[in-house]
Amino acid sequence: MPVYYALCCPGLEDVVSAEIGECDLEVLVAEARLGWVIFAGGGTGAALPVLRSVDAVGLWLGSLDGLEPGAEGLCQIEEWAASLEVSDALAHVRAIRDLPRLPHFRVSAHRVGTHSYTSMDLAAAVGGGIQRDTGWPVRMRGYDINIVLRVTGRRAMAGLELCDSAAEGAGPRPGGAARLKRGVAHCLVRMLGLAGPELVMDPMCGTGSIVLECVHLHPGARVLGGDMDGRALGIAAERSRAVSPAPGWVRWDARAIPLRSGCVDGVVCNLPFGRRVGSHRRNEHLYPGFFRELYRVLRPGGRAVLLTLEKRMTERLISKHHGLRVAGVRVVELSGLHPSVYELEKLA
Ligand SMILES: C[S@@+](CC[C@H](N)C(=O)[O-])C[C@H]1O[C@@H](n2cnc3c(N)ncnc32)[C@H](O)[C@@H]1O
Repeated sequence: MPVYYALCCPGLEDVVSAEIGECDLEVLVAEARLGWVIFAGGGTGAALPVLRSVDAVGLWLGSLDGLEPGAEGLCQIEEWAASLEVSDALAHVRAIRDLPRLPHFRVSAHRVGTHSYTSMDLAAAVGGGIQRDTGWPVRMRGYDINIVLRVTGRRAMAGLELCDSAAEGAGPRPGGAARLKRGVAHCLVRMLGLAGPELVMDPMCGTGSIVLECVHLHPGARVLGGDMDGRALGIAAERSRAVSPAPGWVRWDARAIPLRSGCVDGVVCNLPFGRRVGSHRRNEHLYPGFFRELYRVLRPGGRAVLLTLEKRMTERLISKHHGLRVAGVRVVELSGLHPSVYELEKLA
Protein backbone atom coordinates (compact mmCIF):
# COMPACT_ATOMS: atom_id res chain seq x y z
CA MET A 1 0.00 0.00 0.00
CA PRO A 2 1.61 3.26 -1.06
CA VAL A 3 2.53 5.78 1.63
CA TYR A 4 2.14 9.48 0.89
CA TYR A 5 3.09 12.84 2.33
CA ALA A 6 0.99 16.00 2.25
CA LEU A 7 2.59 19.40 2.80
CA CYS A 8 0.44 21.87 4.72
CA CYS A 9 0.54 25.05 6.74
CA PRO A 10 2.39 24.30 10.02
CA GLY A 11 -0.20 24.42 12.81
CA LEU A 12 -3.07 22.98 10.72
CA GLU A 13 -2.01 19.31 10.60
CA ASP A 14 -5.05 18.11 12.57
CA VAL A 15 -7.46 19.83 10.17
CA VAL A 16 -5.63 18.29 7.20
CA SER A 17 -5.77 14.87 8.89
CA ALA A 18 -9.55 15.20 9.20
CA GLU A 19 -9.90 15.70 5.43
CA ILE A 20 -7.54 12.79 4.72
CA GLY A 21 -9.51 10.57 7.12
CA GLU A 22 -12.77 11.49 5.36
CA CYS A 23 -11.27 10.11 2.12
CA ASP A 24 -10.81 6.65 3.72
CA LEU A 25 -7.07 7.15 3.88
CA GLU A 26 -5.09 6.26 6.99
CA VAL A 27 -3.14 9.04 8.72
CA LEU A 28 0.21 7.72 9.99
CA VAL A 29 2.02 10.89 11.17
CA ALA A 30 0.37 14.24 11.90
CA GLU A 31 2.42 16.11 14.50
CA ALA A 32 1.54 19.70 15.32
CA ARG A 33 3.64 22.40 13.59
CA LEU A 34 5.63 19.93 11.49
CA GLY A 35 4.13 21.19 8.22
CA TRP A 36 3.57 17.73 6.81
CA VAL A 37 1.27 14.74 7.29
CA ILE A 38 2.11 11.13 6.35
CA PHE A 39 -0.75 8.87 5.27
CA ALA A 40 -1.43 5.58 3.48
CA GLY A 41 -4.10 4.00 1.32
CA GLY A 42 -5.80 4.44 -2.02
CA GLY A 43 -4.46 2.92 -5.25
CA THR A 44 -1.60 4.33 -7.33
CA GLY A 45 -1.03 8.11 -7.30
CA ALA A 46 -3.72 8.65 -9.92
CA ALA A 47 -6.43 7.29 -7.64
CA LEU A 48 -5.69 9.75 -4.83
CA PRO A 49 -8.64 12.05 -4.15
CA VAL A 50 -8.04 15.81 -4.49
CA LEU A 51 -7.14 17.10 -1.04
CA ARG A 52 -8.08 20.79 -0.77
CA SER A 53 -6.48 21.43 2.61
CA VAL A 54 -2.93 20.68 1.49
CA ASP A 55 -0.28 22.52 -0.53
CA ALA A 56 1.26 19.49 -2.21
CA VAL A 57 1.05 15.68 -2.21
CA GLY A 58 3.57 13.03 -3.12
CA LEU A 59 5.00 9.60 -2.42
CA TRP A 60 6.71 9.39 0.96
CA LEU A 61 10.33 8.23 0.66
CA GLY A 62 11.41 8.35 4.30
CA SER A 63 11.84 10.33 7.49
CA LEU A 64 14.97 11.04 9.51
CA ASP A 65 15.14 11.91 13.21
CA GLY A 66 18.14 13.32 15.08
CA LEU A 67 19.52 15.38 12.19
CA GLU A 68 22.70 17.08 13.38
CA PRO A 69 22.40 20.90 13.16
CA GLY A 70 26.16 21.22 12.51
CA ALA A 71 28.12 20.61 9.30
CA GLU A 72 28.14 16.86 9.99
CA GLY A 73 24.38 17.00 9.40
CA LEU A 74 25.03 17.40 5.68
CA CYS A 75 27.02 14.14 5.47
CA GLN A 76 24.34 12.47 7.60
CA ILE A 77 21.53 13.57 5.27
CA GLU A 78 23.47 12.63 2.13
CA GLU A 79 23.96 9.08 3.47
CA TRP A 80 20.30 8.93 4.39
CA ALA A 81 19.27 10.14 0.92
CA ALA A 82 21.43 7.46 -0.74
CA SER A 83 19.52 4.83 1.29
CA LEU A 84 16.05 6.01 0.22
CA GLU A 85 14.48 3.57 -2.26
CA VAL A 86 13.66 6.28 -4.80
CA SER A 87 13.62 3.85 -7.74
CA ASP A 88 10.78 1.87 -6.12
CA ALA A 89 8.73 5.02 -5.74
CA LEU A 90 9.43 5.84 -9.37
CA ALA A 91 7.56 2.68 -10.38
CA HIS A 92 4.38 4.25 -8.95
CA VAL A 93 4.97 7.42 -10.98
CA ARG A 94 5.62 5.42 -14.15
CA ALA A 95 2.11 3.95 -13.68
CA ILE A 96 0.72 7.49 -13.92
CA ARG A 97 2.91 9.20 -16.55
CA ASP A 98 5.63 8.57 -19.10
CA LEU A 99 9.18 9.08 -17.90
CA PRO A 100 12.57 8.68 -19.57
CA ARG A 101 14.71 5.70 -18.50
CA LEU A 102 16.90 8.07 -16.48
CA PRO A 103 14.61 10.92 -15.40
CA HIS A 104 16.03 14.38 -14.73
CA PHE A 105 15.44 15.38 -11.13
CA ARG A 106 15.82 18.29 -8.74
CA VAL A 107 15.51 18.64 -4.98
CA SER A 108 13.30 21.36 -3.44
CA ALA A 109 14.34 21.91 0.17
CA HIS A 110 12.60 23.95 2.87
CA ARG A 111 14.17 24.29 6.32
CA VAL A 112 12.77 25.60 9.61
CA GLY A 113 14.94 25.88 12.73
CA THR A 114 18.56 26.64 13.62
CA HIS A 115 21.15 24.90 11.47
CA SER A 116 24.66 25.80 10.30
CA TYR A 117 23.65 24.99 6.72
CA THR A 118 21.10 26.43 4.31
CA SER A 119 18.20 24.88 2.40
CA MET A 120 20.43 25.02 -0.71
CA ASP A 121 23.15 23.03 1.13
CA LEU A 122 20.55 20.45 2.13
CA ALA A 123 19.22 20.21 -1.42
CA ALA A 124 22.74 19.65 -2.78
CA ALA A 125 23.51 16.97 -0.15
CA VAL A 126 20.27 15.07 -0.77
CA GLY A 127 20.73 15.44 -4.53
CA GLY A 128 24.24 14.00 -4.23
CA GLY A 129 22.95 11.01 -2.26
CA ILE A 130 20.15 10.28 -4.71
CA GLN A 131 22.41 10.67 -7.73
CA ARG A 132 24.93 8.31 -6.20
CA ASP A 133 22.14 5.72 -5.73
CA THR A 134 20.28 6.18 -9.02
CA GLY A 135 22.61 7.82 -11.54
CA TRP A 136 19.78 10.25 -12.47
CA PRO A 137 20.93 13.52 -14.02
CA VAL A 138 20.11 16.77 -12.17
CA ARG A 139 18.14 19.54 -13.90
CA MET A 140 16.83 22.62 -12.09
CA ARG A 141 14.28 23.55 -14.80
CA GLY A 142 12.23 21.26 -16.99
CA TYR A 143 12.89 18.34 -14.65
CA ASP A 144 10.85 15.13 -14.64
CA ILE A 145 10.97 14.45 -10.91
CA ASN A 146 10.86 16.87 -8.00
CA ILE A 147 12.20 15.45 -4.73
CA VAL A 148 10.71 17.40 -1.83
CA LEU A 149 12.78 17.78 1.34
CA ARG A 150 11.34 19.27 4.52
CA VAL A 151 13.53 19.86 7.58
CA THR A 152 11.95 21.08 10.81
CA GLY A 153 14.50 21.25 13.61
CA ARG A 154 16.16 17.84 13.76
CA ARG A 155 13.47 16.06 11.74
CA ALA A 156 13.58 15.55 7.99
CA MET A 157 11.07 14.15 5.53
CA ALA A 158 11.67 13.37 1.87
CA GLY A 159 9.09 12.64 -0.81
CA LEU A 160 8.58 12.39 -4.55
CA GLU A 161 6.14 15.07 -5.60
CA LEU A 162 2.95 14.05 -7.43
CA CYS A 163 1.08 17.37 -7.42
CA ASP A 164 1.61 20.87 -6.09
CA SER A 165 -1.63 22.81 -5.53
CA ALA A 166 0.08 25.66 -3.70
CA ALA A 167 0.06 27.68 -6.89
CA GLU A 168 -3.64 26.95 -7.41
CA GLY A 169 -5.56 30.16 -7.97
CA ALA A 170 -2.42 31.98 -8.97
CA GLY A 171 -3.09 35.02 -11.06
CA PRO A 172 -3.55 38.76 -10.79
CA ARG A 173 -3.29 40.24 -7.30
CA PRO A 174 -4.57 43.79 -7.28
CA GLY A 175 -1.96 46.16 -5.85
CA GLY A 176 0.07 43.20 -4.49
CA ALA A 177 -2.81 42.30 -2.16
CA ALA A 178 -2.43 39.22 -0.02
CA ARG A 179 -4.00 36.04 -1.31
CA LEU A 180 -4.50 33.10 0.97
CA LYS A 181 -3.37 29.74 -0.38
CA ARG A 182 -6.26 27.37 -1.06
CA GLY A 183 -5.01 24.90 1.54
CA VAL A 184 -5.11 27.44 4.38
CA ALA A 185 -8.45 28.90 3.21
CA HIS A 186 -9.94 25.39 3.12
CA CYS A 187 -8.70 24.60 6.63
CA LEU A 188 -10.15 27.83 8.06
CA VAL A 189 -13.58 27.04 6.60
CA ARG A 190 -13.37 23.48 7.94
CA MET A 191 -12.59 24.88 11.39
CA LEU A 192 -15.96 26.66 11.32
CA GLY A 193 -17.36 23.18 11.98
CA LEU A 194 -20.90 24.08 10.91
CA ALA A 195 -23.40 21.48 9.67
CA GLY A 196 -25.92 22.75 7.09
CA PRO A 197 -25.45 26.52 7.57
CA GLU A 198 -27.81 28.86 5.72
CA LEU A 199 -25.57 31.88 5.38
CA VAL A 200 -21.76 31.95 5.51
CA MET A 201 -19.57 34.93 4.64
CA ASP A 202 -16.09 36.42 4.38
CA PRO A 203 -16.47 40.17 5.11
CA MET A 204 -12.97 41.03 3.81
CA CYS A 205 -12.77 38.51 1.00
CA GLY A 206 -10.16 40.08 -1.31
CA THR A 207 -9.90 37.86 -4.40
CA GLY A 208 -12.11 35.23 -2.82
CA SER A 209 -10.01 32.22 -1.73
CA ILE A 210 -12.04 31.66 1.44
CA VAL A 211 -15.42 32.18 -0.27
CA LEU A 212 -14.57 29.55 -2.92
CA GLU A 213 -13.85 27.03 -0.15
CA CYS A 214 -17.10 27.97 1.61
CA VAL A 215 -19.02 27.10 -1.57
CA HIS A 216 -17.10 23.84 -1.88
CA LEU A 217 -17.71 22.75 1.72
CA HIS A 218 -21.24 24.18 2.07
CA PRO A 219 -22.90 23.85 -1.36
CA GLY A 220 -26.34 24.15 0.27
CA ALA A 221 -25.59 27.49 1.93
CA ARG A 222 -25.81 31.05 0.66
CA VAL A 223 -22.24 32.30 0.51
CA LEU A 224 -21.27 35.97 0.46
CA GLY A 225 -17.96 37.72 -0.06
CA GLY A 226 -17.56 41.42 0.70
CA ASP A 227 -14.65 43.79 0.40
CA MET A 228 -14.03 47.50 -0.04
CA ASP A 229 -11.59 46.86 -2.93
CA GLY A 230 -13.58 46.75 -6.19
CA ARG A 231 -10.68 45.37 -8.23
CA ALA A 232 -10.21 42.45 -5.85
CA LEU A 233 -13.95 41.73 -6.05
CA GLY A 234 -13.74 41.77 -9.85
CA ILE A 235 -11.02 39.12 -9.75
CA ALA A 236 -13.00 37.12 -7.19
CA ALA A 237 -16.07 37.14 -9.46
CA GLU A 238 -13.89 36.03 -12.37
CA ARG A 239 -12.43 33.16 -10.28
CA SER A 240 -15.93 32.00 -9.33
CA ARG A 241 -17.42 31.99 -12.86
CA ALA A 242 -17.42 28.18 -13.08
CA VAL A 243 -18.48 27.70 -9.44
CA SER A 244 -22.00 26.52 -8.60
CA PRO A 245 -24.01 27.64 -6.70
CA ALA A 246 -22.55 31.08 -7.45
CA PRO A 247 -21.51 33.09 -4.38
CA GLY A 248 -22.56 36.72 -3.96
CA TRP A 249 -19.94 39.47 -4.15
CA VAL A 250 -20.67 42.81 -2.50
CA ARG A 251 -18.62 45.97 -2.21
CA TRP A 252 -18.95 47.06 1.40
CA ASP A 253 -17.15 48.42 4.41
CA ALA A 254 -16.77 45.63 6.98
CA ARG A 255 -17.54 48.23 9.66
CA ALA A 256 -21.06 48.71 8.21
CA ILE A 257 -22.24 45.41 6.71
CA PRO A 258 -25.62 45.83 4.94
CA LEU A 259 -27.14 42.70 6.52
CA ARG A 260 -29.76 42.49 9.25
CA SER A 261 -28.70 41.50 12.75
CA GLY A 262 -28.40 37.87 13.78
CA CYS A 263 -28.73 36.38 10.27
CA VAL A 264 -25.26 34.92 9.66
CA ASP A 265 -24.32 31.35 10.70
CA GLY A 266 -20.63 31.52 9.98
CA VAL A 267 -17.91 34.10 9.33
CA VAL A 268 -14.43 33.19 8.09
CA CYS A 269 -11.92 35.99 7.58
CA ASN A 270 -8.23 36.61 6.95
CA LEU A 271 -8.00 40.04 8.50
CA PRO A 272 -5.44 42.62 7.35
CA PHE A 273 -2.20 41.89 9.24
CA GLY A 274 -1.01 45.46 8.82
CA ARG A 275 2.08 44.23 6.95
CA ARG A 276 1.34 43.77 3.24
CA VAL A 277 -2.27 44.91 3.53
CA GLY A 278 -2.97 48.13 5.44
CA SER A 279 -1.01 49.12 8.55
CA HIS A 280 -1.26 48.72 12.32
CA ARG A 281 -2.59 52.30 12.56
CA ARG A 282 -5.31 51.55 9.97
CA ASN A 283 -6.18 48.36 11.82
CA GLU A 284 -6.77 50.43 14.96
CA HIS A 285 -9.59 52.10 13.00
CA LEU A 286 -10.78 48.96 11.24
CA TYR A 287 -10.84 46.23 13.89
CA PRO A 288 -13.20 47.82 16.51
CA GLY A 289 -15.87 48.52 13.88
CA PHE A 290 -15.41 45.09 12.33
CA PHE A 291 -15.83 43.27 15.69
CA ARG A 292 -18.96 45.31 16.46
CA GLU A 293 -20.43 44.22 13.10
CA LEU A 294 -19.23 40.64 13.51
CA TYR A 295 -21.05 40.41 16.82
CA ARG A 296 -24.17 42.07 15.40
CA VAL A 297 -24.64 39.97 12.26
CA LEU A 298 -23.81 36.58 13.85
CA ARG A 299 -26.88 34.69 14.99
CA PRO A 300 -26.81 33.30 18.56
CA GLY A 301 -24.80 30.05 18.33
CA GLY A 302 -23.10 31.34 15.17
CA ARG A 303 -19.35 30.81 14.75
CA ALA A 304 -16.40 32.75 13.39
CA VAL A 305 -12.86 31.74 12.39
CA LEU A 306 -10.44 34.67 12.15
CA LEU A 307 -6.79 34.71 11.00
CA THR A 308 -4.73 37.66 12.21
CA LEU A 309 -1.35 38.90 13.33
CA GLU A 310 -2.97 41.63 15.47
CA LYS A 311 -3.24 39.34 18.51
CA ARG A 312 -3.36 41.87 21.37
CA MET A 313 -5.88 44.06 19.57
CA THR A 314 -8.03 41.03 18.70
CA GLU A 315 -8.00 39.66 22.25
CA ARG A 316 -8.85 43.07 23.67
CA LEU A 317 -11.80 43.43 21.31
CA ILE A 318 -13.07 39.87 21.94
CA SER A 319 -13.04 40.55 25.67
CA LYS A 320 -15.18 43.66 25.04
CA HIS A 321 -17.96 41.52 23.53
CA HIS A 322 -19.06 39.42 26.49
CA GLY A 323 -21.34 37.35 24.26
CA LEU A 324 -18.37 36.10 22.24
CA ARG A 325 -16.77 32.88 23.51
CA VAL A 326 -13.26 31.81 22.44
CA ALA A 327 -13.63 28.17 21.37
CA GLY A 328 -9.99 27.84 20.33
CA VAL A 329 -6.78 29.70 19.52
CA ARG A 330 -3.74 28.38 17.69
CA VAL A 331 -0.60 29.77 16.06
CA VAL A 332 0.20 28.83 12.46
CA GLU A 333 3.13 29.58 10.19
CA LEU A 334 2.50 31.54 7.00
CA SER A 335 5.33 32.87 4.80
CA GLY A 336 7.63 33.23 7.80
CA LEU A 337 4.98 34.98 9.93
CA HIS A 338 3.19 33.42 12.93
CA PRO A 339 -0.41 34.65 12.91
CA SER A 340 -3.09 33.19 15.17
CA VAL A 341 -6.39 31.54 14.25
CA TYR A 342 -9.26 32.42 16.62
CA GLU A 343 -12.35 30.19 16.73
CA LEU A 344 -15.21 32.18 18.21
CA GLU A 345 -18.82 31.41 19.09
CA LYS A 346 -21.62 33.87 19.78
CA LEU A 347 -23.36 32.71 22.92
CA ALA A 348 -27.11 32.00 22.67
C1 LIG B 1 -5.53 40.06 4.13
S1 LIG B 1 -6.61 40.53 2.91
C2 LIG B 1 -7.58 39.16 2.80
C3 LIG B 1 -7.88 38.80 1.43
C4 LIG B 1 -8.57 37.44 1.23
N1 LIG B 1 -9.55 37.13 2.23
C5 LIG B 1 -7.58 36.32 1.19
O1 LIG B 1 -7.37 35.77 2.22
O2 LIG B 1 -7.05 36.01 0.15
C6 LIG B 1 -7.63 41.71 3.68
C7 LIG B 1 -8.71 42.35 2.81
O3 LIG B 1 -9.41 43.27 3.64
C8 LIG B 1 -9.93 44.29 2.80
N2 LIG B 1 -10.34 45.40 3.65
C9 LIG B 1 -9.56 46.23 4.38
N3 LIG B 1 -10.33 47.13 5.05
C10 LIG B 1 -11.63 46.84 4.75
C11 LIG B 1 -12.90 47.38 5.13
N4 LIG B 1 -13.00 48.41 5.97
N5 LIG B 1 -14.01 46.83 4.64
C12 LIG B 1 -13.95 45.77 3.76
N6 LIG B 1 -12.78 45.22 3.35
C13 LIG B 1 -11.65 45.75 3.85
C14 LIG B 1 -8.77 44.58 1.86
O4 LIG B 1 -9.22 45.20 0.69
C15 LIG B 1 -8.22 43.16 1.60
O5 LIG B 1 -8.76 42.60 0.43
